[in-house]
Amino acid sequence: MSDSDRKDWPDVDRRSQRVRRQKDRRSGADRRTRAEIAVEGERRSGLDRRAAERRSGQERRDDAEWQPVTIDTSASSSAEAEQALLTAAIDARTRAQAAYSHFMVGAALETADGQVIGGCNIENATYGLTLCAERVALVKALSDGHSIFTRIAVVADTASPTPPCGPCRQLLWEYCGDIDIILGNLNGSTGRFRLSALLPMPFDRRLLE
Ligand code: THU
Repeated sequence: MSDSDRKDWPDVDRRSQRVRRQKDRRSGADRRTRAEIAVEGERRSGLDRRAAERRSGQERRDDAEWQPVTIDTSASSSAEAEQALLTAAIDARTRAQAAYSHFMVGAALETADGQVIGGCNIENATYGLTLCAERVALVKALSDGHSIFTRIAVVADTASPTPPCGPCRQLLWEYCGDIDIILGNLNGSTGRFRLSALLPMPFDRRLLE
């Protein structure tokens, strides 16, 4: 592995600085000046996408630790943006090729620049060649040149939202890092997880060094 590859991997100093910054942010509004609060408010009210960018892609992937990370609620998405992603997943689901299981799934993957790439499950008579909706969305996005992702919505027609299967979690971890996973069904029920909570001890290329 070259030095330039190696510098992409976790850097303890960078991480501890970030942890310190996060602690500073949580240190209580009462200790801040009005101007600081206004700046903070402006920061939080910015585009949802901007919040996502702050935690997206390579940086988030490199930052990932072995333990599940704390959810950064300051970067939580707006309800409308999240709903738009769920709607895209519901739309993708209508194209599911699920002749064998009849279990139709839709996914919508959001890129850091706000594009949404849909995917549906595609089954095959051999069963084993079945592609999950999440992986279809991911390979579409990667093959179109996208490389930084912020979150993915997954929708199935189940009473409670359907989480991604194990192989999909592994693939999402590899290419998306610790993204938000928004789960939904057709009745408006939703759940929201960080991928690190669903895949707490990932195997990844750091172990191949
Ligand atoms: N499936 C997905 O597309 N995503 C998931 O997260 C779970 C399962 C598909 C695969 C197969 O076509 C059908 O659902 C039943 O397993």
